[in-house]
Amino acid sequence: NMNSKSKLVKKGKIGVFDSGFGGLSILKHIVKKLPEYDYLYFGASARAQYGEKSHATILKFTKEALVFMFNSGCEIVVLACNSASSEALREIQQKFLPKYFPDKKVLGVIIPTVEKVLEERQNKKIAVLATNATVRTGTFVKEIQKRKPQVFVNQVACPLLVPLVESGKEKSKEAEVAVRDYLSCLKKEKIDALILGCTHYEFLSSVIKKNIGKKVKVFSEGSIVAVKFKDYLKRHIEIEEKLSKKGKVEFFITKPSSEFDIFGSKFFGSQIHADNVKLSNVPQKKTI
Ligand code: DGL
Repeated sequence: NMNSKSKLVKKGKIGVFDSGFGGLSILKHIVKKLPEYDYLYFGASARAQYGEKSHATILKFTKEALVFMFNSGCEIVVLACNSASSEALREIQQKFLPKYFPDKKVLGVIIPTVEKVLEERQNKKIAVLATNATVRTGTFVKEIQKRKPQVFVNQVACPLLVPLVESGKEKSKEAEVAVRDYLSCLKKEKIDALILGCTHYEFLSSVIKKNIGKKVKVFSEGSIVAVKFKDYLKRHIEIEEKLSKKGKVEFFITKPSSEFDIFGSKFFGSQIHADNVKLSNVPQKKTI
């Protein structure tokens, strides 16, 4: 009997991963669009910031986070971190998943964002603000030019912006000066679109918009990723069927801190509480 068989299948959660609490800005939009599902947010806060780490480190940390998330019942994971999406996603999809978790899925934030920006055909000159790691990989440039080789792309690494947001200074004079400085090299290029290619930059979007001028359309990832993710689930019924729907959202971090709850609530838009886990203490069915 098909019916009783399908009832026995244990359904799973949607995982959202980030190096810290920045990815909550992505989770917020996904939960708003798809409130019926169950979510597990995992912030590897003891290991932030990924944006300044090497390729090998980001890849290793991301794999370890995924082992925890899959063993905790996630069916599909969104890497809400641009640095992890650009440094680790491809290898995870091509090697890690087929070998260790062939039934699970991992998606990133860069491709949906690129698709959305290119859907608006007037965008021919695009700039990307991101961390050092994301800029170093050139992932935004590659993904844009693979789809539209004639589009001009410029990237600006903004290493000061994450620490400014993390210290609650997103509305300060210091932030304004840093933003103006990072945008100054784009002034002469007459860009059409600006991508905020980092989880934290949404919190600087008003100062960025003010300084880049009205002619430039600014793209934040959260709402774009949420729309594309909803569409993905619609197109992949075989994955959607495996997801549980109790409308529950859980939060886990790797560094005990009340700061996460305070900053996290701001990023998520409502009060949250995160439980602490140690990656090494997690029983791992499979080792990497
Ligand atoms: N989540 C990271 C990103 O989107 C920013 C924070 C970090 O560097 O860890 O690139």
